[in-house]
Amino acid sequence: MNQYSEQFRIQGKQLSCERYGNGHINETYLVKTTSGLDYILQKINTNVFQNVEGLMANIVAVTEYLAARDGDPRHTLHVVPTLDGKSFFRDPEGGCWRVYDFVTDSICLEKVESEEDFVQSAIAFGQFQRQLAEFPAATLTETIPHFHDTADRVRQLRDAIAADKAGRLQEVQSEIAFALDRAEEAGCMVRMLAEGKLPLRVTHNDTKLNNVMLDAATRKPLCVIDLDTVMPGLAANDFGDSIRFGASTAAEDEKDLDKVEMSLPLFEAYARGFLGACGESLTDEEIRTLPMGAKLMTYECGIRFLADYLNGDTYFRTHYPEQNLDRCHTQFKLVADMEKKWDAMAAVIAKVAGR
Ligand SMILES: Nc1ncnc2c1ncn2[C@@H]1O[C@H](COP(=O)(O)OP(=O)(O)O)[C@@H](O)[C@H]1O
Ligand SMILES: [Mg+2]
Repeated sequence: MNQYSEQFRIQGKQLSCERYGNGHINETYLVKTTSGLDYILQKINTNVFQNVEGLMANIVAVTEYLAARDGDPRHTLHVVPTLDGKSFFRDPEGGCWRVYDFVTDSICLEKVESEEDFVQSAIAFGQFQRQLAEFPAATLTETIPHFHDTADRVRQLRDAIAADKAGRLQEVQSEIAFALDRAEEAGCMVRMLAEGKLPLRVTHNDTKLNNVMLDAATRKPLCVIDLDTVMPGLAANDFGDSIRFGASTAAEDEKDLDKVEMSLPLFEAYARGFLGACGESLTDEEIRTLPMGAKLMTYECGIRFLADYLNGDTYFRTHYPEQNLDRCHTQFKLVADMEKKWDAMAAVIAKVAGR
């Protein structure tokens, strides 16, 4: 049995340590102890996250800030330090481990089964945004540089086109045209940030339902977990990425594009949950950019699939040869659908925000 929990300031002695949860990135264990308190022990995936120091510094800064403003231990993750006061432990093989208090009497849903689940995740991520509205986001480390720098993603697509590594350029001319037609617009939010028209915020960057802990009794949000990708960014990006995957009516690699739409009712449901929780803390300009966040996150994802297809599928794992192209098609279909529904999306945001 794994004994690394003994390297941390946990209460009591370890009784058991078993694999836990359904996370796909880190190795997660539930540690039970003689004190009756449970803990989460995680081996951080250092293939995905190379800057563990920066990542843990971000998590400690954000969770300490949240804890200082809300004393309920179930309302934020809490990092348990190592015996020598560090935020993570490095094992003899170089593996990196951390411990969190277990969030008690909570549940974590694997996928959205009803509109209500989607609304609860919107409330959770909206609350996270509001609670951190005054946090000095620029002090956080950009652990994955240029993560949502859409203009830089366009540059990477142009590189992939120029290199044509997999010899697939000829068959994707219409997709390239779609992408490059929107290349100028792609940089609009990054430019607004640079010009000081949008504030830098703390963003989560993995706003899935299974990264929200709900109260087991009330099924209302307790806190947001999985803070590995917390970084400085734009509020509209977290909102937008949730819409990209949560308001789509089909799977990411659906071949029948007639089935792929951005559902306006789901868009409105998410906007209500999100803005209900953090609308007050966002600027007018930020609120107006929420539809653009949805469009640009979807566009960005589409061009990343297209670039990877051109590069020979080296980044995203594929199960069949055209999967990245299918994924690109669904994302571009969603972008086109949002363009059609643009005025309606803007009207929903104005109505829900009340400004
Ligand atoms: N502090 C915690 N308390 C209770 N359960 C947790 C806690 N942290 C993580 N979990 C459970 O472990 C799962 C995986 O954790 P997560 O940090 O999301 O890892 P991954 O990055 O692999 O998705 C979560 O979906 C949740 O079920
Ligand atoms: Mg997770």
